[in-house]
Amino acid sequence: MSILDKNKAMKAEVRQVAEVAGYLWQKGWAERNGGNITVNITRWVDDAMRALPAISEPLPIGKTLPHLEGCWFYCKGTGKRMRDLARNPMANGSIIRILPDCATYEIVADRLVMPTSELPSHLAVHDYLIAKGSPYRASLHTHPIELVALTHCHKWLEKDAATRMLWSMIPETKAFCPRGLGMVPYMLPSSVELAEATIRTLDQDYDVVMWEKHGVFAVDTDIMNAFDQVDVLNKAAQIYIASKNMGFEPEGMTYSQMKELSDAFGLPK
Ligand code: 13P
Ligand code: ZN
Repeated sequence: MSILDKNKAMKAEVRQVAEVAGYLWQKGWAERNGGNITVNITRWVDDAMRALPAISEPLPIGKTLPHLEGCWFYCKGTGKRMRDLARNPMANGSIIRILPDCATYEIVADRLVMPTSELPSHLAVHDYLIAKGSPYRASLHTHPIELVALTHCHKWLEKDAATRMLWSMIPETKAFCPRGLGMVPYMLPSSVELAEATIRTLDQDYDVVMWEKHGVFAVDTDIMNAFDQVDVLNKAAQIYIASKNMGFEPEGMTYSQMKELSDAFGLPK
């Protein structure tokens, strides 16, 4: 028996996380325990859930995040595999609630699965999103092969160099990832410094940022939309690489084609 059985809306949200976890594995982006997902599920919490006892001690977040007071999250478990989460999300993830000090949390359901090691980044980003009144409630970290490969070359780490190239590979990229791809220099995985750099970069008006030589971090209204943004960007990177493998530098859409697209779809310039 899962607590989700009593809450249809929350069950649907967690089922969507499981569906995306399956896609991440199928894409080859989720080796072993690679990647993590958190979703702010506060709006689905009912009185029955609020009455649940904690199943863990209070645990430190590593930061004080004042906007997370009273918030609840579904989190992938640390060391857990996306391919296992796809089949059984509550054995490979857990539900946590933030305690009133906004610096600790406790696990509420279903099992004592410790949340992802990237919790500082995920929760700091949720805190930032709430503070700015964003409708975004889901964050995704994953290891997409071609996008990570790009970050091994200095030229693509320059601000918006990769964005411009990726947008020009296929019109859908700018249409469905209109804010492009921010760059965060290499930092130790799961560190508070990485969390802070991620927020600084998201705040330059990106929904998707690259962690150099590691992976992407994407935010959106729900986890399917966050996945879609990463998927269109990685598809563009694959087209670039396919052209290079055929022995030529891809032309890319021209400036006037990009301008026409931006005007037609009402996209930022
Ligand atoms: P977790 O298993 O702790 O979620 O870590 C996976 C990962 O990709 C770390 O960057
Ligand atoms: Zn990672």
